[in-house]
Amino acid sequence: MNSQTRLLPLGDFKPADEWQTHVNEIFYGIQGPSIHNHFQTYVSQDHRLAHALAEDYFKQSCKLAEKNQPRFIMEWGVGNGNLAGCFLSHLKSIDTQGQVYPNTSYILCDFSMEILKGARNNLKLEDHIGKFFTIQVDANHMDCFRENTIHKIISNEIWDDLSTKVLLKQDNCLYEEYLQPLIDPNALEINIDSFIKPFNEKNLHRLKAYPDILQFILWERTYQRVDINDWPHAAILQNHIDLLDNEIPTPINIGALATLKRARSLLKLDGLGYTGMDYGMYSMRELNFSGRPYFNLYGGQYTFMVNFELLCDWAKAEGFSSIEKDYQHHYVGKHLKDKVISLVELLQSHHKVQTMDSWDRDILMLKTLDTLNKVYKSNYHYKMKYSSIEGTPDNQRQQIKELTDKLSTNGVPDTVAYISEKEVMQVCVDLAKLGYREQEYSSLFQAPTEPISFVIMNLR
Ligand SMILES: C[S@@+](CC[C@H](N)C(=O)[O-])C[C@H]1O[C@@H](n2cnc3c(N)ncnc32)[C@H](O)[C@@H]1O
Repeated sequence: MNSQTRLLPLGDFKPADEWQTHVNEIFYGIQGPSIHNHFQTYVSQDHRLAHALAEDYFKQSCKLAEKNQPRFIMEWGVGNGNLAGCFLSHLKSIDTQGQVYPNTSYILCDFSMEILKGARNNLKLEDHIGKFFTIQVDANHMDCFRENTIHKIISNEIWDDLSTKVLLKQDNCLYEEYLQPLIDPNALEINIDSFIKPFNEKNLHRLKAYPDILQFILWERTYQRVDINDWPHAAILQNHIDLLDNEIPTPINIGALATLKRARSLLKLDGLGYTGMDYGMYSMRELNFSGRPYFNLYGGQYTFMVNFELLCDWAKAEGFSSIEKDYQHHYVGKHLKDKVISLVELLQSHHKVQTMDSWDRDILMLKTLDTLNKVYKSNYHYKMKYSSIEGTPDNQRQQIKELTDKLSTNGVPDTVAYISEKEVMQVCVDLAKLGYREQEYSSLFQAPTEPISFVIMNLR
């Protein structure tokens, strides 16, 4: 019997968005803040993107005519609450005249009670008690709020989690991607029958007993002919499809579209708009990049890359009159008056990184952090946690522990934190001693060349 025959379906084939939202609801519903054991984001520990957003909010708020009116910011899909904490702390520190911070209330919205519980306990929010609130609400159904009442909406990496269909074009025919979840019952230490029913019913209470099982799901794919006439904004979608090359799976982020619609009606007409950030294909050029990825799995969570070109067209159709799109690195760099990359991008430029054992890569990461910490000074105090992966030999395990203990408490806060060109160049001699070559990392500070990049959209 080969391994294929042992796989057991957990349900039937369904359009990709149906299974995607199904597993994501379970993933976030049972994980809480431990989601960040599976992935990090540019706001889950770092502060630089949050500070850039706070500076923009402050500048724009100061220009508003009604200076002393209460203002509401909403964040959708809040993770561990770090973005809210850093945003509010920075806003308070730059608002030296007390013009904006005292009138601002920050509403953290998420569909997961576990996530909201974790965010409320974030230490960075301790200084802002009474200034923030948490509300359990699905980003697709924000009907419980009054229209035209919110000044600013922010979201980071929620669009890729929301309902996304996948289309494939073949000349004049369109095909939609269908998914089926499968599992190898022999690879698990549980009775599979006790998992299938709660999995299908999304019974979070029962599924909490199996927090790690989602990552063992394998996804079978198939494509079926589809007519898109009853899909949202079908005419805009058809124009978009006409520009696509054949046989490249293209995400159609209908959940992200729903957030644009909701944001448009919640935002005050003279408000400061919706700022949405995520990763995906910046323009038609990247969409038509043959072989580019279009989905990702992190510890069981199912995410789709965001089709920013289509979102811009949809935003216009939803009534936004100003639609700006920028690379996130460029946006953060503008605020720091420098160019930036993330620490992990620097690491990946090391000529030996691809051939290193993963524990040696961990050691290189920790030594790189230590080197950058000579010049990097954060106002936040946080001791980065770094543990060895399973299978790390004793010698390397000991080194990882010693290097982790030595990490500065106000240094680079995360392995995906933004670092500036100036900081990198200040320690280039020490980086060279670790084997980094300047010609290999200096090009990273130019515009992204990969088909997938981190993007910020400002809609007003
Ligand atoms: C990838 S995490 C990003 C968290 C945080 N914004 C960050 O960047 O670190 C996605 C977040 O969106 C939330 N989320 C996913 N789908 C949602 C939905 N339909 N409605 C509200 N929140 C949702 C999850 O619970 C989680 O907090």
